Amino acid sequence: MKIAFFDTKPYDRPSFERYGREHGIEFKFFETKLNEDTAELAHGSDGVCVFVNDTVNAAVIDILCAMGVKVVALRCAGFNNVDMKYAFGKIHVVRVPAYSPYAVAEHTMALLLTSIRRIHKAFIRTRDYNFSLNGMTGFDLHGKTVGVIGTGKIGRVFIDICRGFGMKVLAYDKFPAEGLDNGDTIRYVSLDELFTGSDILSLHCPLTEETYHIIGEESLQKCKRGVILLNTSRGALVDAEALLAAIKSRKVGAACLDVYEEESDLFFEDFSGHILDDDTLARLISMPNVIVTSHQAFLTEEALQNIAETTVQNLLDMENGQCPNELCYRCGSAEDCRTGKCF
Ligand code: NAI
Repeated sequence: MKIAFFDTKPYDRPSFERYGREHGIEFKFFETKLNEDTAELAHGSDGVCVFVNDTVNAAVIDILCAMGVKVVALRCAGFNNVDMKYAFGKIHVVRVPAYSPYAVAEHTMALLLTSIRRIHKAFIRTRDYNFSLNGMTGFDLHGKTVGVIGTGKIGRVFIDICRGFGMKVLAYDKFPAEGLDNGDTIRYVSLDELFTGSDILSLHCPLTEETYHIIGEESLQKCKRGVILLNTSRGALVDAEALLAAIKSRKVGAACLDVYEEESDLFFEDFSGHILDDDTLARLISMPNVIVTSHQAFLTEEALQNIAETTVQNLLDMENGQCPNELCYRCGSAEDCRTGKCF
């Protein structure tokens, strides 16, 4: 099987080369992202392997189908970059539903601790032999309330970590997890109650029409003054302009962002030495209470191995006609596909 691998980074290759070789899959690696201009590179391939910022819209799907490409293998969990409705009946789409919820949840806590204990400032200060503590006062997480939106795999690991710190949890999910609410330290509440009652907000839901800009002017107004926002999920969950305004007005005390609405042209690339055209991102990065990482929450050895292993298995399963990780726009999961209703 031949697979065109788009948006390749040096850290992707070792595990995909190894698992591919072991299972007779030949990956052809391209550094460019998949879009209408680059889709032709998949000529002669049975499938394409793509990541979060590749574009799989109607035009790309048409080009791939015309070349006989049968499968889009997402090497990530989110699939908001794929026109699932258009793909239906034309090309199979498989994904890696979970590669390491621990990686993302642990990165979220790393960002929170870095921010509130000013580790990013201390690192720079002490390298300059500046041992002053002025302006470094943080606060205890113990006893604080964290609002978690999305209590799926990552959200639940993050809740466990927060409970380890002695925090109280207010949770919101469209489909609450059974047995999570203990009526005391972890409670499912309405979104409004979560906004008004949380010292820290953490986003762990997918990006959908419903969750687009779930954090915007209106929701931020409901929040406590000084609230800390953590977003390691998807950029467009947060209205970045509204966040910037709320930071300027001191409503938001700090923001830790691993994702950004307009990240696709910037994140994963080196723009040092360039002038950043995105004024909103530049202004956010300039703030002393904003930490931005470039969609690296997933990036652990364990996650990279799981991603490669599951993607290779997905491709093998698809070749055999059935893959539990196939997606379709109707079910958003594998259910309909497994019953063969989708194609
Ligand atoms: P999951 O599918 O296990 O959990 C998502 C949860 O969100 C589910 O419980 C679901 O019911 C809930 N949800 C769906 N619609 C909702 C709505 N309208 N309001 C509130 N909750 C809603 O997914 P998982 O693995 O926990 O991942 C969560 C998100 O993390 C992914 O969608 C992805 O965007 C992001 N992610 C980020 C990574 C990074 O490197 N920064 C890596 C992997 C995932």
